[in-house]
Amino acid sequence: MAFEHVLVVGAGQMGGGIAQVVAASGRRVSLHDAAPGAVERGLASIERSLTKLAEKGGADPSEVLGRIEPVGDLVPADLLIEAVVEDSAVKEEIFRRADEVLPAQAILASNTSSIPITSLGAVTSRPGRVIGMHFFNPVPVLKLVEVIRGLETSDETARGIIELAIDLGKTPAEARDLPGFVSNRILMPFINEAAYALLEGVAGAEAIDTIARLGFAHPLGPLALADLIGLDTCVAIMDVLHQGLGDQKYAPCPLLRQYVQAGRLGRKTGRGFYDYPSA
Ligand code: CAA
Repeated sequence: MAFEHVLVVGAGQMGGGIAQVVAASGRRVSLHDAAPGAVERGLASIERSLTKLAEKGGADPSEVLGRIEPVGDLVPADLLIEAVVEDSAVKEEIFRRADEVLPAQAILASNTSSIPITSLGAVTSRPGRVIGMHFFNPVPVLKLVEVIRGLETSDETARGIIELAIDLGKTPAEARDLPGFVSNRILMPFINEAAYALLEGVAGAEAIDTIARLGFAHPLGPLALADLIGLDTCVAIMDVLHQGLGDQKYAPCPLLRQYVQAGRLGRKTGRGFYDYPSA
């Protein structure tokens, strides 16, 4: 499967990064986002990232950007990669519409970090061609793609997506379609426990992150990482883990919920556990 033309839906930090790496591999990309101005912001961020990479010998930014076409709606393509907000109703509506718009042989992939792939497949007439293709932020830098098969996903679909991930320069790893898959089943309890440590006054945010960075050789501490991912996204993923696995240990820390209520969503709003004055 060559996937010469890829439709990316969602132009935020994940969708933009995905559009970038797909276009950098020489493929044509159509980029759609329903929010006004989102595609323009996404393209500006892609340009910044490509410029950084070009300084280190990466591809010519204008050549890569020239392969990304903004589109006002879903368009036919060989592959959809959906990267919108972690809300199952929103994602299901996109999969329903994509099933109508994209050719019958096209594959519909979701970058979801927590919504069941099986339920996205079930709203389409092609559950065998629906799969999870979960990238990691920042997409142009991090090598992992978690590949998640829904109950009905075919071997051929999984093979095609694994080969595509390798062709994009990524390393695929397969996980079963259970809440949080592997990545967030491990990561979210880590972030949640760090939030509890802060709430209970065990240490301040900087001390907590320093302990993880220097003690475990993590590039970012858990609170800084939560700010990068977005605290609203973290809470949404924890809710899926909590409901899906039915275990209280996955319930989001009240401090995380309170920050979200206050609009302190992390880097994207300029404030989370830390302040980001230039955001
Ligand atoms: N595009 C291009 N290059 C980028 C970039 C981008 N978007 N972001 C960072 N870089 C480059 C920088 O230019 C820099 O390059 P050099 O080393 O050649 O100078 C390099 O990456 C390192 O960046 P920085 O020096 O700015 O800072 P850093 O050393 O802290 O690295 C980081 C930044 C790569 C984000 C690093 O902090 C990191 O790996 N953090 C952990 C990220 C992580 O865990 N992500 C997973 C989130 S979970 C997720 O995405 C999925 C989910 O389901 C929630």
